[in-house]
Formats: sequence, structure tokens, C-alpha cells
Amino acid sequence: MTGRPENSPIVLTPMTPGRDVEFAQMLEEFRDAGEYHVYDGNFAVAWDGYAGFYDLLSRMKAGGYPRPDIVPMDSYFIESGGRILGEVYVRHRLSPWLEQIGGHVGYKVRPSARNQGVATAALRLALKELKALGVESALVTCNTTNAASAKVIERCGGQRIEDAILENRIERRYWVPTRADLPAARRR
Ligand SMILES: CC(C)(COP(=O)(O)OP(=O)(O)OC[C@H]1O[C@@H](n2cnc3c(N)ncnc32)[C@H](O)[C@@H]1OP(=O)(O)O)[C@@H](O)C(=O)NCCC(=O)NCCS
Repeated sequence: MTGRPENSPIVLTPMTPGRDVEFAQMLEEFRDAGEYHVYDGNFAVAWDGYAGFYDLLSRMKAGGYPRPDIVPMDSYFIESGGRILGEVYVRHRLSPWLEQIGGHVGYKVRPSARNQGVATAALRLALKELKALGVESALVTCNTTNAASAKVIERCGGQRIEDAILENRIERRYWVPTRADLPAARRR
């Protein structure tokens, strides 16, 4: 099965152990598209499959691991009809680094499920989670070259502020109001 299942809502499901096979299939898609997976080699933790990835995220949940500047965060799969479509990371607060790049929410959608409103729906759901955590305005960032992500953020109400100029990229930054009563995800 590819793409987004018809007529099933998009939900955020906390990552749980045991989803090795599904995760590996999604990872293959990212790699086939030439996309680097965010945790490959990051944090000096070697890639060791989903079990190791889940373990790393569990340790990161409370913040402070594996580096002191890691903030508390929740890790979700974006799912529809039981199929994993992507990943969302909700960070409970900002750090000086996250103020420049990363912000409160990170997301990625597997290539076969793109351009069907999945990231837009997932960001809306993440904004709802942040509202419940007491965050009134979420910082969301994307590379200036990432037109698709900029569209997602602007569609969720993002107000652009000054770009962050980093060594190897320029990062667009937006404040996005969090809301408990977000409109339903756009359907096609
Ligand atoms: C960015 C990303 C999350 C978008 O996911 P998605 O589910 O395809 O997003 P949506 O379908 O909700 O919206 C994407 C919009 O961008 C548009 N778009 C896609 N590529 C585009 C491009 N090159 N230029 C302009 N618009 C583009 C799509 O047409 C769509 O708009 P539409 O609904 O009006 O047609 C996905 O491409 C991705 O995972 N990329 C790699 C990881 C990444 O960049 N994550 C974000 C880091 S900030």
C-alpha cells in the first residue's frame, strides 16, 4: 500500500516499541529519496534500527539527554488507517539552538504520502498538543529552500519573523498560534 489511506482521519500516535518492520519500510522510502534520517549518526548514537531509535527517543523524552541542551519532547507517528505516514516531534520549550532552527515542532512525511495535506494536518494536531502543554505560540522553522514546509506553516497561521542566518543555511522562522479548537484537516 502506498500514499494516504482514503477516508481515514490523520492522527498522532505516540511512538511505541515493536513497530520495527513498518518503520524500516518508511526509512527505506526516505533513503530511496536520498533523504537523510534525522537521527542517523546524530548525538553520537549509531543507527541500530527502530528499537535503538525508540530507546534513544525514550531517553530524550525528559530532556537533558544525550546533550544537556535537549529539551523535553514527545515523539509521535503520523498515522492514518493504521499506516505510518511520518513523524512529529513536539518540544515542550525552546533552547537557544531551537530558537534558531527546529523550534517547537519537527515533522517529516514519507515521500509516498506527500502533497496530500498530511503535514498540514499533523502540524495542526501538534499545535493542539502544545496548547494543552500551555504553549500559546509555537516557533516553527524551515530552511528557506523548503517551499513545501513554508506552505504548511503559513497554512497553519504562521507569522514570519526574522530569518536565522546559520553557517550553512538560512532558516525561516514563524510564530504560529496554538489552538485547542483547530479546524479539521483539509481533505481532498
Ligand atoms: C515538508 C513536508 C513535511 C511536507 O509534507 P506534506 O505532507 O507533503 O505537506 P502538505 O501536503 O500538507 O502541504 C505541502 C504543500 O506544499 C506544496 N509543495 C510541495 N512541493 C512544493 C514546492 N517545491 N514548491 C512549492 N510548493 C510545494 C504542495 O503542493 C502542498 O500544497 P497544496 O496542498 O496547496 O497543493 C515533506 O515534504 C517532508 O517530509 N519533507 C522532508 C522533511 C522536511 O522537510 N520536514 C520539514 C522540516 S521544516
